Amino acid sequence: MIESDKYLMKCNQDFWNSLVEEHYVSEFYGVDRFLDGQNALDEIELDVLGEITGKDILHVQCHFGLSTLNLVRKGGCVAGADFSYKAVKVADKLSKISGLKAKFYESNVYELSEKIPDKFDIVFTSYGVLCWLPDLGEWARQIASRIYPGGKFCMVEFHPIMQALKKSSMGPVIIGEPYFNEEVMEFLPDGSGSYAIPEVPSRHTTYEWAHPISEIITSLVEAGLHIQKMEEYPYTTQGGFSECLTEGQDGLWRYPESEFGVPLTFSITAGKPN
Ligand SMILES: C[S@@+](CC[C@H](N)C(=O)[O-])C[C@H]1O[C@@H](n2cnc3c(N)ncnc32)[C@H](O)[C@@H]1O
Repeated sequence: MIESDKYLMKCNQDFWNSLVEEHYVSEFYGVDRFLDGQNALDEIELDVLGEITGKDILHVQCHFGLSTLNLVRKGGCVAGADFSYKAVKVADKLSKISGLKAKFYESNVYELSEKIPDKFDIVFTSYGVLCWLPDLGEWARQIASRIYPGGKFCMVEFHPIMQALKKSSMGPVIIGEPYFNEEVMEFLPDGSGSYAIPEVPSRHTTYEWAHPISEIITSLVEAGLHIQKMEEYPYTTQGGFSECLTEGQDGLWRYPESEFGVPLTFSITAGKPN
């Protein structure tokens, strides 16, 4: 990884540290609902994870641990990792409040093999994770290094084409950030807030990287993982942050003016050979 990417990730880390406490009390995350027994994992995530009971699971980029602790509630023996020290601190707090035990590590994705001694049956990551990573080759190698032979990697993510959807005065959408952009994208503070707290303007500049589906698959294959299943979905379970999507009566968000749908979510299951 190039030195400048480390600096850009440090800026992103400051941004994520700044969000944690407000995300924790946000309506979007609904910690109270979770404590009352509501699921924080959606149908796609549960489907891709399969059997959770009794499995050793590592949740990568776990934020403040809501989904991580949901895995504990479903019978997993779970660890979470995130590079935000504030996220890890709040995750430990939520673990105590909920009585759901998990071990949380402060770790950049690129340090998993250094910071986490254990291996796992399942490594899991979901929603809003890849755009923060400059180097998917090393991401995939770090993921693969934490899986037992015979174990699997599962991910659910917004489809990268979603970043190319933008609303225009000329019509419903035009291509926004190019799908194949190889340059880092800089986002200066513009008065908007995060997906969970849009009403709280961020003061941080952030940096994101576009990753086409082909790059994601190739990175996992080159890290020695065997792709067992990949699915694309013409809807997403969260979409309030995108001006192009409309929520249906079923609570799912879709691109409204397309007969056959636009891929908005994808999932991958990849096994580590014995
Ligand atoms: C959109 S959130 C993931 C949210 C998760 N799906 C949830 O709803 O709880 C992205 C997370 O990735 C973390 N993150 C971003 N870049 C990272 C990196 N290089 N290493 C580790 N964590 C990172 C952030 O701190 C943040 O918690």
